[in-house]
Amino acid sequence: MKHSTNSPVAVLGMGAMGAGLAGRLLDQGIQVRVWNRSADRIAPLAEAGAYPAAHPADAVAGTSVAICVVADGEALGAVLHGPDGVLAKGGYPGVLICASTVAPEEVVQIAGDVPSVLDVGMLGNRDHARDGELRLFVGGEERAFQTVRPLLETLGKEVVHLGALGSGMRMKLLLNLLMGIEVQALAEATELAGACGLDRQLVLKTIAGSGFASPVMAFKSRRLASGRFEEPDFRLRLMAKDLMLASKQAAAAGLSLPLATAAADTHVRATEQGLGDQDCAAVVRALTARSGTDT
Ligand SMILES: NC(=O)c1ccc[n+]([C@@H]2O[C@H](COP(=O)([O-])OP(=O)(O)OC[C@H]3O[C@@H](n4cnc5c(N)ncnc54)[C@H](OP(=O)(O)O)[C@@H]3O)[C@@H](O)[C@H]2O)c1
Repeated sequence: MKHSTNSPVAVLGMGAMGAGLAGRLLDQGIQVRVWNRSADRIAPLAEAGAYPAAHPADAVAGTSVAICVVADGEALGAVLHGPDGVLAKGGYPGVLICASTVAPEEVVQIAGDVPSVLDVGMLGNRDHARDGELRLFVGGEERAFQTVRPLLETLGKEVVHLGALGSGMRMKLLLNLLMGIEVQALAEATELAGACGLDRQLVLKTIAGSGFASPVMAFKSRRLASGRFEEPDFRLRLMAKDLMLASKQAAAAGLSLPLATAAADTHVRATEQGLGDQDCAAVVRALTARSGTDT
């Protein structure tokens, strides 16, 4: 079952990350079969040489590896179990890679229907995906991991097998917990700066160049400085999802994590305020009564 470059790979979901992954595979000379719920997002990949599948079952036909990279658990369920879903006509005989960030329990459930499943937490954005620069954290059985390891190594500059199925998601959720808290902290400091009469641009520049900034803060400070949150690198609604999942993991483990709870609440509220399809840095617009005015 070792992956060979002659065998096509299915990529399900042509959002920011799925399109990046599919583009990378095509660049490496690998045949790719792509599917997306909204057909218009397939066109650029089809022009680049991918087979445009009509539905998920069509996408996985004849493949030994399928990568699912849709938004959330609901979308994953639709892709697997919906009409013309991957499992509509029985099981999938290849390795199913869940690269969507979902609850660890959801990927464990899939293993009941698909013999070879891996969950892959992706660290990086669409550009990293396009350039094979992701860091990939994998959960699942050793045999399935070894089968797709060469493929994963074309997609990531670091590939780490963490252990049991669900581990990749657990790692990804705690990484995004950090990111969500950091970006919200940056947004809060910026709001405070404005409220105190300090120059926001100067404050953002100072934070980005300080020892307090993480690389993600320095990166997101550019979004906050420009006030441009369209064409998201990472949609705010997806950050809200991940913060909620991380909070649930904490609660299930009997932990009380106040920052996780606060960040999840803020991002859920921001999504309810209509900011869900903007970049996650738009959380700043949910912080004050002056929402959406001058940030
Ligand atoms: N962006 C990042 O930096 C990043 C990094 C690591 C991990 N992730 C994770 O990777 C996954 C994809 O993220 P993304 O940034 O690529 O998201 P995105 O750009 O928002 O794309 C979401 C994808 O999910 C599809 N989708 C949503 N609901 C669906 C449903 N009910 N049925 C079928 N398809 C559905 C969308 O299809 P339509 O085009 O039809 O809407 C689209 O293909 C998420 O789980 C995210 O948390 C993202």
